[in-house]
Amino acid sequence: MPKEKIIGKLLFTEEQIQARAKEIAEQIDRDFSGEDVILLCTLKGSVLWFSDILRYMKTDAKIDFLSASSYGASTVSSGVVKISFDPQVNMYNHNVIVVEDIVDTGRTLSYMLPKLEERGPKSVKLCTMLNKQARRTDDVTPDYIGFEVDDLFVIGYGLDFDQRFRGLPYISYLDEEDVESL
Ligand code: IMP
Ligand code: MG
Repeated sequence: MPKEKIIGKLLFTEEQIQARAKEIAEQIDRDFSGEDVILLCTLKGSVLWFSDILRYMKTDAKIDFLSASSYGASTVSSGVVKISFDPQVNMYNHNVIVVEDIVDTGRTLSYMLPKLEERGPKSVKLCTMLNKQARRTDDVTPDYIGFEVDDLFVIGYGLDFDQRFRGLPYISYLDEEDVESL
């Protein structure tokens, strides 16, 4: 448990998150035994979860980074996705695992995953730290899920609120009262 005052309402501790990352890394090792794997980190929110998965995997993975963000008025579902950093690694005939922080509406990934498929990978899997199923509008199904979360605004362990709190060693959520007191 973190010793400092928790920001927001605690959902998952560092210990819980790392234990889950270890389980998923072991599952990935079993699923890809003897095969090559490219782990693709989606910036910026996934960096901590990505590094846990990478560290706990026994499989020698290549890594690369990708930055995509969805823009658009918050109440409309027609957000435009912008890829601002494209991975350079050769994906042709390789197994790619996209490592995400959270799948919310699924809009970002429903745009990004077909773009990756165009590069002719052997397979594309999705590993997400959090899955916010209640908010899903687009057809995106993660293959590996750290934790399910309700329709809450979560921060920490890579996740931000206006670029803050990415470094918190736990995942919590902010209610309206929390946001007012920040
Ligand atoms: P999607 O395209 O709606 O699935 O949104 C995905 C992105 O929105 C995630 O990769 C996060 O960067 C961000 N996001 C969604 N929900 C939250 C949240 O509760 N806290 C912080 N960021 C979030
Ligand atoms: Mg993300």
